[in-house]
Amino acid sequence: MEKIILPDIKDLHLIDIYIQHGGFAAAKKAFTKTTDDIIDEVKKSGLRGRGGAAFLAGLKWSFMPKSTDKPKYLCINGDESEPGSFKDRQIFEYNPHQLIEGILITAYAIQAKIVYIYIRGEYHKWIKLMQKALDDAYARGFIGEKMKETFGTDFSCEVYIHKGAGAYICGEESSLMNSLEGQRGYPRVKPPFPAQNGLWGNPTTINNVETITNVPPIINKGWEWFSKIGEPRHPGTLLFGVSGHVNKPGVYELPTGTLLTDIIYKYAGGVPGDKKILCVIPGGSSMPPLRGDQLEGVKMDAESLKNAGSAIGTGGVIVMDEDTDLVKVLARIAHFYHHESCGQCTPCREGTGWLEKILKRLVKGEGSSSDLDLLISVATNIEGNTICALGEAAAWPVRFMVTRFRDYFEERVSKEVSLSVKNKVHSMRNTSIPLAPVTR
Ligand SMILES: Cc1cc2nc3c(=O)[nH]c(=O)nc-3n(C[C@H](O)[C@H](O)[C@H](O)COP(=O)(O)O)c2cc1C
Ligand code: SF4
Repeated sequence: MEKIILPDIKDLHLIDIYIQHGGFAAAKKAFTKTTDDIIDEVKKSGLRGRGGAAFLAGLKWSFMPKSTDKPKYLCINGDESEPGSFKDRQIFEYNPHQLIEGILITAYAIQAKIVYIYIRGEYHKWIKLMQKALDDAYARGFIGEKMKETFGTDFSCEVYIHKGAGAYICGEESSLMNSLEGQRGYPRVKPPFPAQNGLWGNPTTINNVETITNVPPIINKGWEWFSKIGEPRHPGTLLFGVSGHVNKPGVYELPTGTLLTDIIYKYAGGVPGDKKILCVIPGGSSMPPLRGDQLEGVKMDAESLKNAGSAIGTGGVIVMDEDTDLVKVLARIAHFYHHESCGQCTPCREGTGWLEKILKRLVKGEGSSSDLDLLISVATNIEGNTICALGEAAAWPVRFMVTRFRDYFEERVSKEVSLSVKNKVHSMRNTSIPLAPVTR
């Protein structure tokens, strides 16, 4: 299978090697075309965003206003803070120049003169690697004023790296812009959307690192070539980050529509000890979990996963074997989203806290069946009632895990009830207090 994003080429991160393999030819070609041609090509290719929502990239670019005197911006989202997602850093490390070339083409298509690559603050190593690649590209005249001469074009742009400061919420596009502006990373109410009112009130496009890295091959080989790879409704390849209970965790570039079971067993080497799979979260921790006995035939692309009751998200596949304590897992996930909630809206700020509190009660063995209904109720009341999608990110894993594993959770709380009754009886005996019936 041809790899588009992470081809098996030794030292491809070096600019000379990248050029030897045809690097920057796509940018040269793009600058001979009109901006409409480029947007049209990417639209027809069917390229969808790889940052979570799988939105059509070309369509997003076409929202940028043409007749405006305002400066336009391009932001590349490399915040990558979703638990289970670790693919963009592979691009920073192994193919940064293809990302840079994609940036040049995209910036030209939307006429953005300033580009920010927003990178997760904890990615010290990858920030350095990406900065080195940028410096090399600048030195060769591929970015900045000199690119006019290098490519024989009127267009030029500047590219800067901006380091995040450890907040998951700054991966959300509007809080990313607030963060870039030096403000608190609060998501903005939409509409207006970034294409109308983005950075400093100017038209802005935000795309994920992997999305933009797809652009040079599309321009080189044409939209028809790309649209025939993988699933027609979500074409191309995806970088699947596989973690959890697998023998060979890692990032696998595979066509969209690859079977989830193939990713787990054929590529990631199956489950240690040949244990059964209890649960898989297919797209990063915020996506609805699937039961291990429902994985047969599930394809990994946006539409197929929607039909299977989940979502592709960032393609971060988290595998949990039959011995996993799902209650603990869910409590840990709930802790993360509660901690990362920016606190602007009440359903998210309060709801994530309650989800964590109830789940911790379950972990301690003090939960009851009615707590399971309460979890579903709190999650349902968060969904759709918040400024940004962190609300859903927090609610989905809880609602879907409790609903889909109701038998598991019920068994767990019934064990907990009998255990906690026993404990109470035991402690009463120890303190010589006359026994009274314990009711809940
Ligand atoms: C809480 C939250 C965190 C997000 N984190 C990221 C992230 O780290 N990287 C990313 O590309 N998109 C992230 N997104 C999605 C972005 O808001 C945006 O949709 C995406 O960057 C657009 O790029 P794409 O169209 O190329 O997918 C996040 C969304 C939410 C709600
Ligand atoms: S949903 Fe949560 S993270 Fe998003 S704006 Fe509201 S409080 Fe902040």
